[in-house]
Amino acid sequence: MCGIVGYIGTKKASPILINGLLRLEYRGYDSAGIATIEKSGISIMKDKGRVKNLYNLDGIDNLEGTIGIAHTRWATHGKPSKENSHPHSDNSKTFSVVHNGIIENYNELRKFLTDNGYTFYSQTDTEVIPNLIHYYYNKDSKNDDLKLLRAIKSACMDLKGSFAIEVLCKDFPDNMIVVRKDSPLVIGKGENENYISSDIPAILSFTRDFYLLNDYEFVVLSRNKAEFYDKDLKPINKDVKNIEWDASSAEKDGFDDYMLKEIYEQPNAIRETIGAKLNENSKCEFEELDFTKEYLLSLNKIYIVACGTAMHAGLSTRNTIEKLCKIPTEVDIASEFRYRDPLVNEKTLCIFISQSGETADTIAALKLCKEKGAKTLTITNVIGSSITREADYSIYTHAGPEIAVASTKAYTSQVVLLNILAIYFAETMGMTNPCIKDLKEEILNLPKKVEECLKISEKVKDFSKKVYNEKDIFFLGRGVDEVVAREGSLKLKEISYIHSESYAAGELKHGPIALIEKDITVIGIMTDPNLVEKTVSNLQEVITRGAKTMVISNQKIDDTMFEFVINIPNTHPFISPIISIIPLQLFSYYIAKEKGLDVDKPRNLAKSVTVE
Ligand code: AGP
Repeated sequence: MCGIVGYIGTKKASPILINGLLRLEYRGYDSAGIATIEKSGISIMKDKGRVKNLYNLDGIDNLEGTIGIAHTRWATHGKPSKENSHPHSDNSKTFSVVHNGIIENYNELRKFLTDNGYTFYSQTDTEVIPNLIHYYYNKDSKNDDLKLLRAIKSACMDLKGSFAIEVLCKDFPDNMIVVRKDSPLVIGKGENENYISSDIPAILSFTRDFYLLNDYEFVVLSRNKAEFYDKDLKPINKDVKNIEWDASSAEKDGFDDYMLKEIYEQPNAIRETIGAKLNENSKCEFEELDFTKEYLLSLNKIYIVACGTAMHAGLSTRNTIEKLCKIPTEVDIASEFRYRDPLVNEKTLCIFISQSGETADTIAALKLCKEKGAKTLTITNVIGSSITREADYSIYTHAGPEIAVASTKAYTSQVVLLNILAIYFAETMGMTNPCIKDLKEEILNLPKKVEECLKISEKVKDFSKKVYNEKDIFFLGRGVDEVVAREGSLKLKEISYIHSESYAAGELKHGPIALIEKDITVIGIMTDPNLVEKTVSNLQEVITRGAKTMVISNQKIDDTMFEFVINIPNTHPFISPIISIIPLQLFSYYIAKEKGLDVDKPRNLAKSVTVE
């Protein structure tokens, strides 16, 4: 979802900006543009389509400026077009702005500005920003160094919604000002240069030292410094944070696509997630958490709130928490939860899962729970992401950067971490459950078992080749296998554009079976020994109606019943989703490849959904 890059230093800005945008491509976008400060003033180059199209624009090679801003746009207000692409200018062409997020009151602001003589040339919400800055800039009679900052601050105070913005002004050719509210933005510190990006990996090859911004922190950037101001324009100090990821872990490492690379990174990602938290013979440790036995015993409920795949990670683990801790646990979709006045109070622990840590609905749900007095804990993959600055407690999956839009290693790492968290809660509460020992052992065995499971890749590829032209594919399961069915179905939709549905197998007779006809593909997941027989019966019902079936199982089943059987390593039922999802990740990947689709950047989707 929209990407921002910026550079201020001594090198030519345009190649750095375009390179940065290319690294942000995975976020999803439909147009791109850059603005640099040249001797002649601000120069803007933009167009709809791919970032690489910028290389073909007239005059791009002549840009010499060493300060610039850049943007990839994912259309919200107004179709993808050159006019709607960023950067946007004010009417006098004094300011140039790129913006991520949504200005909710843009109609009101547009009317205000139109009444004050301003004209608009795009359909975007963003175009109000440079004009509003101009409005305040013109009204300010003082001509000091802070004039630009004052105008930007006044404009930002009028904006409702979310924004991360970069501003260039032709009257201040050696500065850039940036600010954020509910939308990601980081500053990378170099030697006599500063980099700006909505995402750390985009500028990791230039620096590992970052300033992380909070809402309404204004930054005046010059070549050799970054000055920070709060909402009242009082100077504030910021520490530099060193990021451990290296740039190569954000590259493809010889794989055709990031998604495939990330699927294969899962054994290691899981190892990193387990880290020192879990030890077979001692209690689980989370040094970031200080939950007492009394606090955990006082809880009336745990809510797990997230979106998409991250929500599936929550669903996969609800059972573990309830069984080990005996605390009722509900899992909800963040965009629904935040608007349904949930029953949350100081006796509720609210857990928010987000790979990116930037998902707008999840962050808003967290803020709501804080207001209601609950303790908030976030599980994320991105250190310093927005959600970690809001939550009372943050724990990290340490899965490394996930670039492909379709989440794979983040999901399995989230499920691992949630299971370890459930054990930590149970141990802290003094709950004794004989299965904990076995579960711990099996979690520690996971990296090896996932490695083993990845060996079935060719078999999955064969089946994918048979069904890649299908119009509809169904996924069935019971218990945790039903959650895996949902996640498998989501993966398939996202990257192959095949219509797919997932159902609790027992629900089949209550409606969905009407859709089953000859040759339709149905995938069954069966890992729970207590439920396998029942799911087999449901699959028998679809086979009778002519369906082709692929089955994923770690149980003893009659292979001859099904067209295709994928045997996966056995493990503790609580963590079986971590293994059973692997063939389904590969399945969606190979189908998308067979169809010649862009696996890493599926249409209409963005890696981090920073707007509602
Ligand atoms: C996963 O494949 C999806 N791209 C999507 O559902 C994703 O999990 C969701 O948008 C949540 O993102 P987050 O984990 O960064 O909050």
